[in-house]
Amino acid sequence: MYNWHKLDITLTDLVENKPTETTVGTKRIGLLKKGAELFAFAALCPHAGAPMCDGWVDALGRIVCPLHKYRFDPKNGRNTSGEGYKLFTYPIEMREDGVYVGFV
Ligand code: FES
Repeated sequence: MYNWHKLDITLTDLVENKPTETTVGTKRIGLLKKGAELFAFAALCPHAGAPMCDGWVDALGRIVCPLHKYRFDPKNGRNTSGEGYKLFTYPIEMREDGVYVGFV
């Protein structure tokens, strides 16, 4: 069961394949729009806390951390470059009245 929070940001505020940071209350989250999909993830890298939205998306669709270049799958947070970290991800829904992210 999630507590759903409407984001201040709309789909048109997001640039395709560009990680974008926003806040929900005091929580910082990253957003990524890829085609018809939208992903939400922790704003800070699980390795050493770099801001993930200063990173970029590589040719395989992975979010690349700007500090040490670890790569993460935005769907599930898996560290696809193999260092053993996991980027926390959040459920996200596009509804008629806006975009919602779920917290436990
Ligand atoms: S802080 Fe992100 S890979 Fe090191």
